[in-house]
Amino acid sequence: MNTIFFDSPSSDDIRREHLYNGQIFVFSPCPSGIALCEFAREMVEEAFTPLDPREAQYTLPVEEYVAILARLKPAFIHHPKSKQLIQSILKEAGCDLNKTYFDVPRLRTATSDDYLTSGIAYAFHPHRDTWYSAPPCQLNWWLPVYDVMPTNAMAFHPRYWSQPVKNGSKDYNYAQWNKENRKNAAKHIKADNRKQPHPEEPIELEPQFRLIPNVGGMILFSAAQMHSTVPNTSGYTRFSIDFRTVHLDDAIARRGASNIDSACTGTSLGDFLRGTDFCPIPESLVALYDSPAPVETLTS
Ligand SMILES: [Fe+2]
Repeated sequence: MNTIFFDSPSSDDIRREHLYNGQIFVFSPCPSGIALCEFAREMVEEAFTPLDPREAQYTLPVEEYVAILARLKPAFIHHPKSKQLIQSILKEAGCDLNKTYFDVPRLRTATSDDYLTSGIAYAFHPHRDTWYSAPPCQLNWWLPVYDVMPTNAMAFHPRYWSQPVKNGSKDYNYAQWNKENRKNAAKHIKADNRKQPHPEEPIELEPQFRLIPNVGGMILFSAAQMHSTVPNTSGYTRFSIDFRTVHLDDAIARRGASNIDSACTGTSLGDFLRGTDFCPIPESLVALYDSPAPVETLTS
């Protein structure tokens, strides 16, 4: 059973326990969430000026559109202000900044009507982030930058919280993926042949639910939740932000969601920064989760 909590006053400790059990939290707009969205909008609007970013796809040739995203996305991800705004969000959400580590926020785009669904605007098939070397205690935070609607949102597939799916995660190793693929995202304009963990059996997309927070609001869920990008038929490009957190105590104790079907190797833990001072997570902890890629994928 999945429960959705709205503006729950529970402590972060209780909340994480619920999240590891498959519950989802939705938050109304808060000052720090609004500030992060405003900052993202400033950057997005400057990048697409004089066009409305939600409709620029109808004017720009796809190659030009990709070139804009290829400049915009890393600039947002690595901007010092992005990190400070995440820090404010975590503080406002009641997280202990000393023990909460986060990774830099990603800016995502989902264009409408299949204008661009690969590479830098990859449309995510149903997946769990834990197929991509996320630790079981990873939590995902998701914020829309402009108003979203059911036809350009993200979807959850709750039956798979407890139902394993045959998938290709055994061929995924985080370090290897970073080395070979991430830098080339902007090159995949028409098709995306980068090897990613996919379901390897038919997935029933229903029942599914789509949560629609207002701008400045957020969805918080476990990295083990099955979720996907809704095929965008809204007529507007969706811009959204997501980032992840892990709690130090949970990472040390290996607490988190149960692993029911992930066989990937390596870990993304090394990307996480401490909420107080942005220091990287201890290397000894990363080593605890890290594991080498199987030999056959290293040579393929
Ligand atoms: Fe995801």
